Formats: sequence, C-alpha cells, structure tokens
Amino acid sequence: MHPEILPRPAPITHDEYRARRRALMDRLPADSAVLLPGAALVTRSRDSEFPFRQDSDFHYLTGFPEPEALLLLLPGREAGESVLFCQDRDPTLEAWTGIRLGAEGAVREHGIDQAFENAEREARLAELLDGRHALYLPLGDAEALALAEEVRGELAGRARRGAVAPSAFADVSERIHEQRLCKSEAELALMRHAGAISARAHVRAMRTARPGLMERQLQAELEHEFRWQGGSGPAYASIVGGGLNACVLHYIENHDPLEDGALVLIDAGAEFDLYAGDITRTFPVNGRFSEAQRALYEVVLAAQERAVAAVCPGVTLATIHEGVVHDLTAGLIELGLLEGDVEARIDDGSYKRFYLHSTSHWLGLDVHDVGAYRLEGQPRTLRPGMVLTVEPGLYVPAAADLPVAFRGIGIRIEDDVAVTPDGHEVLTAEVPKRVADIEALMDRN
Ligand code: GLY
Ligand code: MN
Ligand code: MN
Repeated sequence: MHPEILPRPAPITHDEYRARRRALMDRLPADSAVLLPGAALVTRSRDSEFPFRQDSDFHYLTGFPEPEALLLLLPGREAGESVLFCQDRDPTLEAWTGIRLGAEGAVREHGIDQAFENAEREARLAELLDGRHALYLPLGDAEALALAEEVRGELAGRARRGAVAPSAFADVSERIHEQRLCKSEAELALMRHAGAISARAHVRAMRTARPGLMERQLQAELEHEFRWQGGSGPAYASIVGGGLNACVLHYIENHDPLEDGALVLIDAGAEFDLYAGDITRTFPVNGRFSEAQRALYEVVLAAQERAVAAVCPGVTLATIHEGVVHDLTAGLIELGLLEGDVEARIDDGSYKRFYLHSTSHWLGLDVHDVGAYRLEGQPRTLRPGMVLTVEPGLYVPAAADLPVAFRGIGIRIEDDVAVTPDGHEVLTAEVPKRVADIEALMDRN
C-alpha cells in the first residue's frame, strides 16, 4: 500500500522573484548591470545527459527552469529592468526534448520584463549593456567571464561611434548569497516540506531495515519516498553505510550487505522545488542497540539535543560547535575512549580522532548552502530566517588501541533547524532519534 501524500506548499510567486531582483538592484550603482547565466546541460555519456538542475543563484532570481538561459538586470531601464535570454522555440527539437517556453512564455509565465531567444543574443547583448559602467557577474564562472569579456571587447571596438564599454567587472555571487541566507516565509514552507518528506523517507528505511538487505536497497526505499512525495529526488548523493562504512564520511557506494548486530548510518535528504532536506539517522540493522552502541549513541544524542536547543537569534555556529565538542569529548572520556581532563583533550585536539567535521552548515537551495560564516573575521550571529543543520557524530576507528566493543562504530545524528524570532523550529522532527522510539518503530513483534 502506498503512503499518504503530504499536501504541497505553494510555489514562490512572481512577485517574490521580482522583489528579490529589486533588492539586488537596489544595492548596486545605478549605471551598473548584472549578467548571470543559468546552468547548461551536461553530457553523462554519449547521447545521454545528467538530469538538468538549474543554477541555484539563477533560480533564486528567476524561477526559470530551462537550460541555456541568461539573465540581465539593468537598473533604471525604462523598457524593462529584468531581461532574459532563453532557448529558441524549435518544433523539431521540442519534439525530442519537450516544449520550450520561448521569449513570450518567459514573460507570460515567469513575470520577466522582457525576453529574447538565444538566436538574438549576439546582436542584442552589447546594445543592452552599452553605457553600463560596472558589470556584476559571477567572477568564479569562467564562461560568464568569457561572455563579459566578449561584450566589453565589442563595445570597446565601437567606442568611436559613442559606445561605452564597462570599465569594471565585480562579483555578484557574494551579494546574491547574502540575500539567500535568510529565508522568506514561502521558502521556509518549501524547506519544511523538504524536511517532512526526508523524515518520512528515513522512517520508511527504519521500518524496512533488516540483516541481509543491501545498503542500496535502503537507498531505494528512501529515494522512492522522496519522489513519491513530489520531490525531484535526493538533494545530494544518499549515504547508506552499514558497520564500518559509517565511519567513511562521504560513503556513497552503498553496495555492501547490512549485517546483524551492526548499525547503519543514513545521511539522505529530498530535494523539493530545488530546496534541500538533510537528515542523518543511525540505527541498528536488527532493531536493537547493543550496550556499546547505545552508550556511544546516547553521547551523540545528548550533544545533538543540547546543540539544537541552543539555536536562537544572537548565538553563533562557532559557539554551538564548541558546546558539541565539549559534550562529545566528555562522553569519550567517560566511555574510556579518551583519558584525562575534558579541557586538556579539547586543547590538544585528541577528540578529533573521533569527531573531525563541523557541527553545522547553512541549508537552502544548496545542501551546503551559501552565505558567509564569518563577518569581518568573527563568526556571524544567527538571525531569524537562517536555516542550518545540527549534525554531531562520533566515528571510532577499528584500531587495536581502542576498546574492542567500540571499534568500527560510526554514529551521526542530523536535523535541519530554522532560526525563528524567539528560538528555533526543527524541520525534521518527524523522524525519531531517541533509542526507545527507534526500537519501538523497528519492533516487528
Ligand atoms: N549530507 C551532507 C552533510 O550532511 O553535510
Ligand atoms: Mn549536513
Ligand atoms: Mn547530511
């Protein structure tokens, strides 16, 4: 029987996309322009391509879903400040790859001020950018830079006929990234949904797990649920690591059998309307934690719950991470995996043998989302609308100097958390993480 389908949240409106473009333009000089290419199709092998995924910055400003598009923002231009170039309508190609919106469709369906098809790009681009002194573009994108150079060369060549070429190129990416960092209500609704879908998928994997299944079969359960609920698929390569594979942070082969008595670590999240969920749960393949597994798990869980509880406006990710490092180190000492004093083991870095990643990252259109972590050399403080993960873990190497019972155990627990005006909201609370709740969910008697 198929599970209930969660109601879809509303998509981002044209007005919101327009307001985002306005906000970006308002922070740029009047005689500047923005040049931002969308993503292109990428060949997978011979005639097949990777599924198309729009560039996140381009999507954030347009919502336009096709490859090979280009956005120009021309502050103050009377004929329209937002200009889009898009794929040409072409009945023969459309018979193979689907309807293209074309210039008219881009204006009609996406609220862009003016659009042209790519056949007109060469002729129109220089004319549109004539007189714009600074050109803002993603400086890290070689193709965007080459295009900007081409336009500058063309306008410079026409200088004696009165054309004015841009005299400076500046980076637009960082500005867009700062805008993306605090999510709107509509974005939060989409992220809540990505979180809820991802949570359902993890519950489904817990219900299905048993010794003898392949890691990949749990991956199939997760990804079935992502798509069944209307997501486009995983937001990043799903990690399903049984036993020692859980200690490989980015293990994505998922090709081993799940063994009786082992834990399995699943780090997987759905993408919904391009927004990412990002959940990790670790649970026993056979539904019951061993004593050592439970002891280590409780250390990670307590650190994770305390870190989630600390999320609120005004605190920093650095402070949250420090709290986690403290709690994990104290737990490692208690379990005999480290010796001595907590502060000493933090200071000499010996905890890093078991915990080598950071506790949080921003989450949004990208799983490791954009936005600076530090401002003027200092960790930035959290503000309402920011969304982050909280994901402590402990990974015990299978090394001869460590207690046998703990060797090869890898545990991570990860939730997605939005900062609210008076605290936080956990977007992924629907999947259990307490030992008793996991064991009850997996109990097949
Ligand atoms: N899934 C990647 C991460 O948790 O950062
Ligand atoms: Mn994460
Ligand atoms: Mn993750």
